Amino acid sequence: MSTNGLGFRLSGVGSALPEKVLTNVDLQAWMDTTDEWIRERTGIGQRHIGSSTTELATLACQRAMDAAGVGPADIDLLLLATTSPEHICPGTAPAVARELGLDCGALDIQAACSGWVYGLTIANGFLLQGMKRILVVGAEALDKITDYHDRGTGILFGNGGGAAVVEADPDGEGQMLGWDLGSDGNYVHILYAEHGDVLKMDGKEVFRQAVKAIQRTVNNTMKMATDAGHDVSLDDVALIIPHQANIRIVESAWKKLGLSMDKTAMILENTGNTSGATIPMALHDSLIKDRIQNGDLVLFVGFGAGMTWGSALVRWNGS
Ligand code: UT7
Repeated sequence: MSTNGLGFRLSGVGSALPEKVLTNVDLQAWMDTTDEWIRERTGIGQRHIGSSTTELATLACQRAMDAAGVGPADIDLLLLATTSPEHICPGTAPAVARELGLDCGALDIQAACSGWVYGLTIANGFLLQGMKRILVVGAEALDKITDYHDRGTGILFGNGGGAAVVEADPDGEGQMLGWDLGSDGNYVHILYAEHGDVLKMDGKEVFRQAVKAIQRTVNNTMKMATDAGHDVSLDDVALIIPHQANIRIVESAWKKLGLSMDKTAMILENTGNTSGATIPMALHDSLIKDRIQNGDLVLFVGFGAGMTWGSALVRWNGS
């Protein structure tokens, strides 16, 4: 599906973090680890815990709707990316829709840490079908499926929510120039949680596969954009917003792709790995810091359990 010529913009962005903070120093009290090791090996200083997926998604969506200046009647669809849904069935999205006063379609996307980028591209498809405005939210209460006594996983994960109002841009100034989604189910066993259990991970293998997946998806997205006739290269990208599980994963992939950390939006020192919520939260943080201007190229890159991966290149035309 070509995206050439489709007007696409993120007209409002919002995020939410629970108040309660769990620092590396807190973890030292009951885990055989140190603040120094966690910072050096992951880049994480603390993570937020508490609240719920529904609450964090609702707050992030409300803030995104306020930023876009739209109300419940303006939203055609709610897509919720989450690895930590409230129930096996039903999805969490209908409860979030109820909290927001929406009666449109509402569904969960289970693509782990790639979920919000999957949501962005699915929204793009629905805009092509004639929808006008779609809420794409990533929200997680990963503390419910994290063993904070296991130093292989407990140091990494935290809670949070981030959302964007995604809408058709009639002027065509904002666009999704290229995108890529992928998966490889041969790697289910390297990061998973069984029903009623906590996350289990082969960290080293996830690290290796993540670096490969990032390179592949970024190259595919740039190829789609250039094949569609857009004269763009990675050098032209103003800001890259990657999923953040471990800063060394991003640094390793960037080295191979020739990308600079200066052009990268990082939040994980404060948040840890918030799975589907990371990318929209980092986007919101970048907007607050005035790091994105209209006309800029912004590259979103996700990867995670499944394995899944995805990326999207957007010509920014925000509110
Ligand atoms: O969203 C996607 C999901 N997750 C990820 O992307 C995570 C990917 N993986 C990682 O981030 C890293 O593999 C970890 C942070 C999980 C582990 O880091 P690592 O550099 O791969 O450590 P390692 O497992 O190779 O362990 C190195 C050493 C070992 O000690 P020895 O055998 O060399 O004496 C570990 O026992 O570090 C030790 N170690 C720790 N020490 C202090 C492992 N975890 C810890 C810890 N604190 N938390």
